[in-house]
Amino acid sequence: MKIGIAADHGGFTLKQQLLHLLQAEGYHVTDFGAKTLDQEDDYPDYIAPLARAVSTGLIDRGIAVCGSGVGAAIVANKFKGVRAALITETYSAHQGVEHDELNLLCLGGRVIGPELAKEILFAFLHAHYSGETRHQRRLGKLEKIENDSFK
Ligand code: RB5
Repeated sequence: MKIGIAADHGGFTLKQQLLHLLQAEGYHVTDFGAKTLDQEDDYPDYIAPLARAVSTGLIDRGIAVCGSGVGAAIVANKFKGVRAALITETYSAHQGVEHDELNLLCLGGRVIGPELAKEILFAFLHAHYSGETRHQRRLGKLEKIENDSFK
């Protein structure tokens, strides 16, 4: 599984913790930045390249961290085929993948602590899309909405 991670200054510390954890667990992770802490940086500059990589299939699952996770989710969902959500607990982290084929996890670096973030991260990464008919039907409707809105 190809994993990508990105954060602005609000998510930088948590992003570094999660990146090191994933690497220690043997995952190959592409770091889309920020590579250094810059209090003046802007989340779209890091989250958009990650979301674009998910959209084009270069990355299978993305992790985006900003201060609240809200801006990260907003920018990530601008990209076709990206299904991003701000997640704050483990149920939604796996159910979002199983039912909605969530492919970009957004976290608030100023909101949750590192231990909960780790549990959410692994719930997201270990989950698989169920492919059940009802979920396929719903994703098909989402795809149609997306295609219509880009016309
Ligand atoms: C940065 O101060 C903060 O606004 C940003 O990280 C994020 O929380 C936006 O949603």
